[in-house]
Amino acid sequence: MTAIRASSLVKGYPAAGRTVRNVVSNVSLTVEDGEHVVVVGPSGSGKSTLLFCLAGLETLDDGSLWLLGNDVATMSRDVLARLHRKRIGFVFQDYNLVQALNVRENVALSSRLSSESPDWTQVAEALEAVGLGGFEKAWPSALSGGEQQRVCIARTLYSSPELVFADEPTGALDQKNRAMVQAQLVGLRRRGTTLVTVTHDLQVAATGDRVLVLVDGSIFAELRAPSPEEILSAISSAEADSIEGAA
Ligand SMILES: Nc1ncnc2c1ncn2[C@@H]1O[C@H](COP(=O)(O)OP(=O)(O)OP(=O)(O)O)[C@@H](O)[C@H]1O
Ligand SMILES: [Mg+2]
Repeated sequence: MTAIRASSLVKGYPAAGRTVRNVVSNVSLTVEDGEHVVVVGPSGSGKSTLLFCLAGLETLDDGSLWLLGNDVATMSRDVLARLHRKRIGFVFQDYNLVQALNVRENVALSSRLSSESPDWTQVAEALEAVGLGGFEKAWPSALSGGEQQRVCIARTLYSSPELVFADEPTGALDQKNRAMVQAQLVGLRRRGTTLVTVTHDLQVAATGDRVLVLVDGSIFAELRAPSPEEILSAISSAEADSIEGAA
């Protein structure tokens, strides 16, 4: 099955005056089941916005989106919400933990939202897997950025969705925890999870089957199983091209 079929996606935000600036311009992308697609590109190039669009978390200005075999345009809000709850996971760039819930309740959120009893053993295992054993009762506000980011990853490990969107999943992490999270992402892949990851981390990017270089909201280049050096070189030429285009 095809996990994501996106065609000519357009998303803009109001800029100065009454004009709208397209942050995502005409992006078409197909992601097959079990594939790991990585999006890289300069800060502000529209990576997070594209990820939100691909996940069906943003309304589109134009284009069409099929998620796990469903046409998002014809889905009711309830059906889309259920899809997000049951089959799709999202690791947000700004963590997005529920401040009123402690760590273990945040990890078990998918159960809570489905009115099911959490499996606390699995919650503890997910926290253990990201090096946060013993943090079950802590509150998000008492955690560092990197710890909150790992709670987000644990939430994804616990709910075990078939499609995961991860926005800078290692952005706030030190070397040791970066390697740990990277290993968990590889583990998800082995279990057949489809992954779409946005990252500035070349080592993480190089774990992708395909790497898309996004510049000014458009796909500038697509690389197959590239090395970190090849990704760096593609980003450099994309930036040079973008500066030339703007001049
Ligand atoms: N809700 C919004 N309203 C207005 N402009 C927005 C909104 N969200 C994003 N933008 C603008 O869209 C552009 C792309 O933002 P986005 O967050 O997608 O970039 P990014 O590639 O993820 O950057 P980074 O690498 O810094 O995370 C930015 O110029 C940003 O200011
Ligand atoms: Mg971003």
